[in-house]
Amino acid sequence: MTSPQDLLAFWETTGSAKTFTHPLDTELLDGYLPRTARVLDYGCGYGRLTAELAGLGYRSLLGVDVSAALIERGRREHPGLDLMRWVDFPLPFDDAEFDAALLFAVLTCVPQDAAQSAIVAELGRLVRPGGVLYLSDVPLQYDAYHKERYGRWREECGIYGVFTTPDGGVFRHHAPERLRGLVREAGFSVLRERVGSVATLNGHTAKRLQIIARREGRPGPGAAPA
Ligand SMILES: C[S@@+](CC[C@H](N)C(=O)[O-])C[C@H]1O[C@@H](n2cnc3c(N)ncnc32)[C@H](O)[C@@H]1O
Repeated sequence: MTSPQDLLAFWETTGSAKTFTHPLDTELLDGYLPRTARVLDYGCGYGRLTAELAGLGYRSLLGVDVSAALIERGRREHPGLDLMRWVDFPLPFDDAEFDAALLFAVLTCVPQDAAQSAIVAELGRLVRPGGVLYLSDVPLQYDAYHKERYGRWREECGIYGVFTTPDGGVFRHHAPERLRGLVREAGFSVLRERVGSVATLNGHTAKRLQIIARREGRPGPGAAPA
């Protein structure tokens, strides 16, 4: 499989010029993420959704991304946002420092099992008990085109669902049970799921799966209601 360095290099070059496409679902926001929540937008890219949340009235937002090029673009496009580049774990925040985390179209860019687990586990550390993880990603697609693609790449990397794009990107689609498992292993319980359609980075349409999950444990005093 492509090395972790090469995967990240894509997001410093070709990937940093792309237009990201997973829309927020305002019904899920209204139901589970109060406007008072301190929200971490992990894998924020150029701050597209951080900016949208700010426009919706969220006031305590932080976007973090591994790509210097994307964070630089985000600061240019949204000078008022708090956007930070950070590559390794742990992130420089205390346990339970956030009321909620967004993880939108990030796992699809992380083909390796261990790297995916590390991301969701870190969000499990950072979201306070009673807080919320709002994840949106691309599940396995069942059309002939995707099946052929997945089959070709399983030979190479041993994971069904991984594929490359002609511009050098490596992506992964997931069995829904895998996404649920990652969330559960990180200490969250799934509250709600919603399936829909989304435009992909390369102009196709794919199914998406949204998961709202609550961090288990007893909320501390003074925590924002979730
Ligand atoms: C498709 S973009 C989505 C960006 C943003 N969440 C949005 O929806 O607008 C995927 C993001 O994941 C980030 N990313 C790629 N590999 C990553 C990794 N190994 N760990 C964390 N983030 C990664 C990229 O830098 C990019 O910003």
